[in-house]
Amino acid sequence: MSNIGQSPYEALGGEAVLTKVINTFYGYVSEHPDIAHLFPDDLSETKRKQTQFLTQFLGGPTNYTNEHGHPMLRARHMPFAIGQKQAEAWIACMKKALNTHNISGPIYDYLVERLTMTAFHMVNTTNESN
Ligand code: HEM
Repeated sequence: MSNIGQSPYEALGGEAVLTKVINTFYGYVSEHPDIAHLFPDDLSETKRKQTQFLTQFLGGPTNYTNEHGHPMLRARHMPFAIGQKQAEAWIACMKKALNTHNISGPIYDYLVERLTMTAFHMVNTTNESN
């Protein structure tokens, strides 16, 4: 997206829009039968970290690394059994959240492509029943 002179973070609408998307996303996550069980009941800290992470992932300030160090996302997900089904569920929740906030066009396509790659990179089990 650098060819349009702004970061994906800015193209999305910065902190205001990202915060709304993440709130909505975890609402869907907490209701999804394939992944809800993996998350804590209180999602406030999860949301805070995800906001920090996605901010920097999309070219905004490096808030996640400043507080937590290198993301090492795959390693941080190893305690959780993540199969293809969980990656698909995560992406489905994210697409629903983006749609809820009427995010469309190139920024939607960009987000879905990069987040899908990242989600499948987290897969750490071939167990179909997860
Ligand atoms: C593939 C499906 C995924 C599942 C099932 C999953 C699940 C989880 C779970 C259970 C946690 C711990 C929540 C907590 O205890 O607060 C977590 C943390 C996190 N996830 Fe995921 N995740 C997935 C994909 C992703 C993707 C695609 C990203 C980034 C684009 C991501 C970014 C994060 C971050 C930044 C944290 C916080 C790490 C920390 O503790 O500092 N996750 N995830």
